[in-house]
Amino acid sequence: MTDISRRVAIGSLAAGAAGVTAASAAPGAAQTMASATPVPAFRGQHQPKPLRFDPAKLDGLSERLIRSHWENNYQGSVRALNMIEGRLATAIADKDFPPVAYGGLKREELHRTGSVVLHELYFDALGGDGQAAGGVRQALAASYGSFDAWEAEFRRTAMSLAGGSGWCILAWNHHSASLHNYWCWDHTNGPATGTPLVVLDMYEHAFHMDYGAAAAKYVDAFLRNLDWEVVERRYALAIA
Ligand SMILES: [Fe+2]
Repeated sequence: MTDISRRVAIGSLAAGAAGVTAASAAPGAAQTMASATPVPAFRGQHQPKPLRFDPAKLDGLSERLIRSHWENNYQGSVRALNMIEGRLATAIADKDFPPVAYGGLKREELHRTGSVVLHELYFDALGGDGQAAGGVRQALAASYGSFDAWEAEFRRTAMSLAGGSGWCILAWNHHSASLHNYWCWDHTNGPATGTPLVVLDMYEHAFHMDYGAAAAKYVDAFLRNLDWEVVERRYALAIA
């Protein structure tokens, strides 16, 4: 089953279960569920973060691509996360809500949370000049033998996802106290105990409009526009 069809099936299952439950509930129960005020965890009021750079001024990433990505894929995930939180709030109020349907909602909550967070980390680190400096550059050189060796491994990790989907993430691993490039197949993958420092979106929607299947050119463009001051701040917070 594809990712999309699986999510459609989960949504249908959850919606169907909710309908059956509502139909069989005692009179007044549905009204009670609907009037319950969601707790903060399920309030569903996430707001999209604006771009912190002028999308018309990136080097090799078109304004049309960036705006389409930010408006459709990122904001679509924000809306979906809000919707899922609302569904969870309703399900929590229903003690008879089927566990299998609840699991579907929780999977989608994880999926959409990952998409929102990773997209924000991706967009927030664009708009720079691609020139690495500071403590994170020194730490990467120490970890990989040289900064160029780190970059080469980051590119190889990214290209291993080309043609499919996923995220290439440089993270600070708190458990092993080390820097590492991670291969993340979808929004639910991530390094255990890792704080993302550099987040590269390798879904085709992130580059196909500008580069077709030439993903390596997109990776080049991403690195040219990476704001290493942002990466340095993330690194300093992670190791503090
Ligand atoms: Fe994306």
